[in-house]
Amino acid sequence: MNVHDFAAAKRDGRKLTFTTCYDWWSARILNESSVDGILVGDSAAMVMHGHATTLPATPEMMSLHIAAVARGAPDKFLIGDMPFPWHRKGISAAMDVVDAFLTAGAHAVKLEGIEGHEEIVRHIAGSGVPVMGHVGLTPQSVNALGGYRVQGRSEDAAERLVEESRQLEQAGCFSLVVEGVASETAAAITRAVSIPTIGIGAGVEVDGQVLVFHDLAGLQREVRPKFVRTFSDGYGMLLKAVEDFDRAVKDGSFPAGDETYE
Ligand code: KIV
Repeated sequence: MNVHDFAAAKRDGRKLTFTTCYDWWSARILNESSVDGILVGDSAAMVMHGHATTLPATPEMMSLHIAAVARGAPDKFLIGDMPFPWHRKGISAAMDVVDAFLTAGAHAVKLEGIEGHEEIVRHIAGSGVPVMGHVGLTPQSVNALGGYRVQGRSEDAAERLVEESRQLEQAGCFSLVVEGVASETAAAITRAVSIPTIGIGAGVEVDGQVLVFHDLAGLQREVRPKFVRTFSDGYGMLLKAVEDFDRAVKDGSFPAGDETYE
C-alpha cells in the first residue's frame, strides 16, 4: 500500500485498517496480516513504557520503536507519530524529527492538530513526506481538553472539526485520523474531505479504522474504552502460558526426557 492506494480505497469505498505497533515481535505478526498500514504511535509512551499519557514520548524513544517495527514489517506502510512538542518548535526542529523517523524506516509522519503549526504540516508534505493529520480527541492536548473527552458534540464544535479537517487536506495531508469524535461529526468530516479518514472511537461512517494493537489483541486489562473491541484474550493466554511453565517446573514435569540433551 502507498498513498495512491489509500486515495483509491476511499474513491472505491474500500475500508482501510491500521493498527499501532511498537516492536519487532508484533511487527512480524502484522507483516503477515492483511492490515493496510502500521502506526508507530506515541501511545508507545503509555503501552510500552507505562506512562499515564503520551506526553513523555521523545524523538529518540519513537525512533527506536520505528526502527524495530521497520525491521519486523518490511512490507507495510509505516507512519511515525511526531511526539509533543516537536511540531511546535519550528520547521527546523520538526524536520530533524522527520529526518530521524525516515532514517529509522518510516514512510510517513503523523501530526496532531493544525492550529498554530499549519505551516509545518505544509512544509513537511511539500518536502515530499506523506503527512497524516489527526483531529478530535488529540491525546497530546489531554490536559487542555480536560481529560479524554469525546469531541465534536455541539454544532459549533462539529463545524470547527470539519473546518480543521479541510485545512489539513489543503495543507497536503494524505489521510486523517479522527479520534474520539461523535459519529455524526466523523461522518460529516468524511464527506467534507477527499482524503481517507481513519477513525478510532469515531463510529462506522469513516473510511477506515485504527486500533492500538494491545487493545485489539486483549493484551492489556487496565483501560477498556467503549470503542475498543478485543478480538482475543492475549493477556489471559500469555498469563496461562507462564502459569503452566511455573507449575511444570515445580511439579518436575519440565524439562521432560525429549527436552533434555543426552
Ligand atoms: O498514538 C497513537 O497510538 C495514536 C492512535 C491511537 C491514532 O495516535
